[in-house]
Amino acid sequence: MPQVVVTRRAHFNAAHRLFNPAWSDAENARVFGPCANPHYHGHNYNLDVSVAGEVDPETGYVVDLSVLKGVIEERVLSRLDHRNLNLDVPDFARTIPTAENIVQWCWRQLAPAIPRGRLARLVLWETERNLVEYTGG
Ligand code: NI
Repeated sequence: MPQVVVTRRAHFNAAHRLFNPAWSDAENARVFGPCANPHYHGHNYNLDVSVAGEVDPETGYVVDLSVLKGVIEERVLSRLDHRNLNLDVPDFARTIPTAENIVQWCWRQLAPAIPRGRLARLVLWETERNLVEYTGG
């Protein structure tokens, strides 16, 4: 059966700071630049959630996007939107909340909860120019 990939784009705002507590302030500033500023900064993130699977002959859907929307809201947006990732999300207390780490966190939340098909790809846009992609490997 042919596989089709469907994608839902979600959006959230969050603050973060890139900072390695094992390093000096000078080393953090050298590596992370203004991203290490102590009072945090924010991003308008987009998260593209792609699900792959066979088309259900009864519905014509791979996955019902309204159901997928609810899963994304429950598993990701309710925990990240309008949060300070370093301070409000326990998983980022010791993990630097880079886009690379955030996208893997999103994968762990979403992959077990996909209602039909399988999670095939996440793309996390931190800015219009900077994005990371994760396929679970
Ligand atoms: Ni940033």
